[in-house]
Amino acid sequence: MVPPAHASECDEVKAGSGLVPPGSENVWDHRDPGFRTLAELEAIAARRTMGHVWAYIEGGAGEERTLAANRAAFRRWVLRPRVLEDVSEIDLRTAILGNRTRAPVFVSPTAYQGEVHPDAEVGTARALSAAGLLGTYSTLSSSSLEQIAAASHGPAPWFQLYLQPDFAVSASLARRAEKAGFSAIVLTADVPVLAVRDRQAEGGFAIDSSVPIGNGRDILPPSREPELQGEVYRLRSEASQTWDVLDRLRESTGLPLIVKGILTAEDARRAVAHGARGILVSNHGGRQLDGAPASLDALAEVVAAVGNSAEVYLDGGVRRGSDVLIALALGAHAVGVGRPVLWALAAGGESGVRQYFALLTTELATAMALVGRRRIAEIDRTLIGPAPGPARLGERGPDRADGP
Ligand SMILES: Cc1cc2nc3c(=O)[nH]c(=O)nc-3n(C[C@H](O)[C@H](O)[C@H](O)COP(=O)(O)O)c2cc1C
Repeated sequence: MVPPAHASECDEVKAGSGLVPPGSENVWDHRDPGFRTLAELEAIAARRTMGHVWAYIEGGAGEERTLAANRAAFRRWVLRPRVLEDVSEIDLRTAILGNRTRAPVFVSPTAYQGEVHPDAEVGTARALSAAGLLGTYSTLSSSSLEQIAAASHGPAPWFQLYLQPDFAVSASLARRAEKAGFSAIVLTADVPVLAVRDRQAEGGFAIDSSVPIGNGRDILPPSREPELQGEVYRLRSEASQTWDVLDRLRESTGLPLIVKGILTAEDARRAVAHGARGILVSNHGGRQLDGAPASLDALAEVVAAVGNSAEVYLDGGVRRGSDVLIALALGAHAVGVGRPVLWALAAGGESGVRQYFALLTTELATAMALVGRRRIAEIDRTLIGPAPGPARLGERGPDRADGP
């Protein structure tokens, strides 16, 4: 259960809602993270995070059309409640690629967690271990993958791979992850080059070797922009790697492969043809192709294309228990959460992350009770319908008011 925030912190939250600039508090500590709702969490995180880091976390690509679309897509669905069902016991447990987990939610990979709190990925891993949930950790983690694996005592974590210019380095990262105890490789396929991210650029956060990463000096972040050479723009050499890189990775490691960043049926089929065991429908949280569809809007097409040949997951805009329910009703096997985990880390390190997942899973259990379902396997398409008319549910802001 989420403990009540201290009165003084409530006052802080009110004062912080939009009035206090991001980063003005910048406190890293282990106090009670002190949030009771998502809105409070975001407000506290904004205050405790340096302005340029906050712009990096919150921003998306270009004018943030896709970032906004991710949230808007959830508002186009309503939940269809069923009443007078026996919902005296709700069971959120499921298995993700054969790994038992306490709920169909996992942490999507986000880079540089040490920039928001010194607990960094090790704190996230500890929190998830306590919650019995699965985490995915970035190639660009602040903690090393070995430290993360050592801190993980729940479902074995997934390692997110950014292809390196030299394939041998990618393969060695995958092998390191396997040796350390990770249970899958998540190949992020939607970053042949980093997108132009206006808000981040304005904030002054640079994704380059100036930000320390835990996996070693030879590991590179994705390249920053195409370079004009003569008449053509050139990208770094990893941008030349195509689908057979999945086959090469499968030769390098026995771990199952998941491809992250798929938004079309065509690519989903190709991923499966090259041996992917999981597809993560994602637009990178609106941070890559601005104008790409909302992840939720791409989900049904991918689910239909893949059938039973791989598990399909979704991330992008998932914030609340009701979002998880909608994505599962549309065919996702499990859903990933990105930014809220960073908010939670910023608010209270490991204990902030624990508290966020307590909030999320309690909300999911509540939503299940209200739609009359006791088990994850009982969630189906009949639980949702299109929101009526132009005045969509949640137009006032779904993170604040869900009705009486
Ligand atoms: C600050 C930040 C850093 C991210 N870093 C990575 C990364 O290193 N690798 C990756 O595959 N995705 C990365 N992502 C994308 C997330 O894995 C995920 O797709 C996205 O955050 C989901 O959307 P949400 O933030 O709305 O939940 C990052 C996202 C954010 C916000």
